[in-house]
Amino acid sequence: IVMDFKHPDGHTVAIMLPRCSLLVMAGESRYLWTHGITPRKYDVVQASELGQKVGTITADVGDLTLNRRETRTSFTFRKVRRSPCNCIYPSVCDSQKGQQRQVQPSFPHNEMEASKLEQEYVHKVYEEIATHFSSTRHSPWPRIVEFLRSLPKGSIVADVGCGNGKYLGINEDLYMVGCDRSKNLVDICGEKNFQAFVCDALSVPIRSGSCDACISIAVIHHFSTAERRLATIRELARLLRPGGMALIYVWAMEQEYKNQKSKYLKEKNASKDKDEEINTGMAQRPLCDQMPDSSSQDSACSDRLPDDSKDEDCDAKSVADSRLPVHTNRTSFHSQDLLVPWHLKGSTKKKGESGDTVSFPAGSKEQKELSPVFHRYYHVFCEGELEAACRSLDGVRVQKSYYDQGNWCVVLQKL
Ligand SMILES: C[S@@+](CC[C@H](N)C(=O)[O-])C[C@H]1O[C@@H](n2cnc3c(N)ncnc32)[C@H](O)[C@@H]1O
Repeated sequence: IVMDFKHPDGHTVAIMLPRCSLLVMAGESRYLWTHGITPRKYDVVQASELGQKVGTITADVGDLTLNRRETRTSFTFRKVRRSPCNCIYPSVCDSQKGQQRQVQPSFPHNEMEASKLEQEYVHKVYEEIATHFSSTRHSPWPRIVEFLRSLPKGSIVADVGCGNGKYLGINEDLYMVGCDRSKNLVDICGEKNFQAFVCDALSVPIRSGSCDACISIAVIHHFSTAERRLATIRELARLLRPGGMALIYVWAMEQEYKNQKSKYLKEKNASKDKDEEINTGMAQRPLCDQMPDSSSQDSACSDRLPDDSKDEDCDAKSVADSRLPVHTNRTSFHSQDLLVPWHLKGSTKKKGESGDTVSFPAGSKEQKELSPVFHRYYHVFCEGELEAACRSLDGVRVQKSYYDQGNWCVVLQKL
């Protein structure tokens, strides 16, 4: 039989356990890794060993074969600890969980910290969740479609932070090119025969003034300082020819606007897949709930543009403690800067990687244990904040500014 082991970072290893074998787990394999036997009729085993030798199933596809499962009888022996545990795996230790202070990143205080935070809590995460993320991103938002359909035939359009390329094929009369920091998402665009390349939105390798239009949908909220967000908008403007238009969407702090709850709040009991189509991951108890000084977590760390006075309507509070709170999904925001959980479903393997996929029945203990949670950094924008940032730039004018699907949106025109 084959048993699947999974590390909390998502790495999985399949181990062959032949008939009459004894597997003794100690150290990391016993405590840090989760393990389970996926229900299935056949196991993928090493052909050369004919499934008789204990060991990892290697990625050598030339040496793999299927082995039909038969009746299995297995015994598990565990030592029971009667005293508190002090092991070196506190993040997964039941006994230490209550006392443990979770490692939670802080709000960045300089450019270097900002870039590190984004690397860890945006770029790495999208790279890991790309396949699952893409499977939840299929419905284009109508007003973005409307913008793309309104552009003249033959327009050259850049989609900066294009994700899985959801908008790249909307209007076949346009020459659209996408770019994104995530190579795995760019590869997904390539599989759909879209033109896309890897780059950072702060520095897009496209000649100045060469685009008739550009869009940047749900990207700028992933930058962790006002300066970096402004620099990204400046970069979009740089790409435009005079008269060219940019459409920008960012997630709004206000998920209830003009007495209407956003879809994000309304679909509290939506199916899990639907949850993630809207914008984010699934509900989870905030890390700050587990902390002794949780009150300070429930507050904002809102950095402002130098000339951008704080909007009265925006409910964010300023703070002394700058650790980023973890958002509970489908609830209102209490902080402008936060971490949003993403529960990864399915295999973490990328296309083309060999090895077995771990799959347990939905909702089972094994499935929960084996689905890692990632956290993405977001800065949710207050009313007027995106518009003020755009207005602070020379050489552009704000043509339109509106609220759509829980996002603040601006249409910019290059002068
Ligand atoms: C919420 S997704 C939106 C994707 C797509 N625009 C859409 O509407 O479906 C955010 C995207 O921004 C990308 N991203 C985040 N930071 C970026 C950066 N610094 N430069 C380029 N892309 C970035 C992510 O990789 C991800 O694809």
